[in-house]
Amino acid sequence: MRDAYIVTAVRTPGCRRGKGAFKDTRPEDLLSFILDAAVQRTPGLDKGQVDDVMIGCSFPEAEQGLNVGRIAVQIAGFPDQVSGATVNRFCSSGLEAIAQSAMRIMCGWSDITIGGGLESMTYVPMGGNLARPHPEYTREHPDLYISMGMTAENVANRYNISREDQDQFAYESQMKASKAKAEKLYTEIVPTPATRFVLQADGTYKKETFLQDFDDGIRESTTLEGLAKLRPVFALNGTVTAGNSSQTTDGAAVSVIMSEKAVKELGLKPVAKLKFYTTVGCRADEMGVGPRYAIPKLLKLAGLTIDDIGLWEINEAFASQALYCIRELGLDKYMDRINIHGGAIALGHPLGCTGAKLCATLLTNMRAKGVKYGVESMCIGGGMGAAALFELCD
Ligand SMILES: CC(C)(COP(=O)(O)OP(=O)(O)OC[C@H]1O[C@@H](n2cnc3c(N)ncnc32)[C@H](O)[C@@H]1OP(=O)(O)O)[C@@H](O)C(=O)NCCC(=O)NCCS
Repeated sequence: MRDAYIVTAVRTPGCRRGKGAFKDTRPEDLLSFILDAAVQRTPGLDKGQVDDVMIGCSFPEAEQGLNVGRIAVQIAGFPDQVSGATVNRFCSSGLEAIAQSAMRIMCGWSDITIGGGLESMTYVPMGGNLARPHPEYTREHPDLYISMGMTAENVANRYNISREDQDQFAYESQMKASKAKAEKLYTEIVPTPATRFVLQADGTYKKETFLQDFDDGIRESTTLEGLAKLRPVFALNGTVTAGNSSQTTDGAAVSVIMSEKAVKELGLKPVAKLKFYTTVGCRADEMGVGPRYAIPKLLKLAGLTIDDIGLWEINEAFASQALYCIRELGLDKYMDRINIHGGAIALGHPLGCTGAKLCATLLTNMRAKGVKYGVESMCIGGGMGAAALFELCD
């Protein structure tokens, strides 16, 4: 099998659903911008050389429907022959798209592909605009459709993850993110045009564009006392709050992937190889445990142990599930290797984009720290986990 090299991995900032900088920016605009930016940041790459673009999206409907993977490719000015697709595995969709794009390279079907992810949770709410659960199946198995917040409560209750520990974890996520933002360490972010509608004197609105260059969900002022005061959101006597849950967010991210042949022809220096990717199922009503099963499966495939991994990006869908997975896997001895610049509690979790966003962040940090192996992993609605291993290039 051939190697799949990631040569460029970039993202838009992540911005708060309904309240943040991208609330009036259409999802196709976020995605087409970041696709174009990825090509611009890959010296010598011509858009026509890209074989296919695959985009993960968790709720691919309305403004981000109709195969947004192909629509954004066209809006971004790729020539007609460049194909595009949309893929859905909920919270790992962006990683799934990168993995599928890498597999095309690995098996020799393509030399240059792009994989990425998109979600505007402002334009298309979580659950979609018109959810239609299967009527008979739901009567017997309602768990498949329960709210993600309830699955986080289930994990906290079943595995004794206290409110204090969840809040401490959330606090640390916010503090790490605040520091990284202040030190301008999110170099994978491309300043992204955002739309706003400005009220004019005559009562009409004028469409304007401004550049957004930071994740606007980070709360530098977070304190443990403030977090402790927040009321549970999903269950009356629960422990999961707005402060220790991932934020709902708008964003897009993509990676340019190449064969060794293409890398050499273009004279590029790739960042990392995607070595292994795996998924696994678990109980739907505690979907947050997914990484606890996906990570050992991945490491077994790779013949590695947790001690070999220098950096981890483990999606913080909720503090309860992230903490559970970290503890069960014995990763708590390596807290300084996990989500080193904060996670989704501070930076947001734009569902279908997240897998691609975490890839861009992980590769940036692996390169900055000279780390050989990095893993990203996440839990997935419906009861699944996904994990991928990246190896830094020399
Ligand atoms: C939990 C959830 C419902 C909260 O939604 P929300 O009310 O819109 O959340 P916000 O981030 O706007 O926070 C609400 C309030 O909580 C308080 N708050 C949030 N984070 C805080 C923090 N770190 N410190 C102090 N107060 C905080 C603030 O008062 C905030 O209001 P403000 O924005 O006006 O200041 C939503 O974030 C959610 O659904 N998260 C999970 C998403 C999910 O399931 N994803 C899929 C996972 S598989």
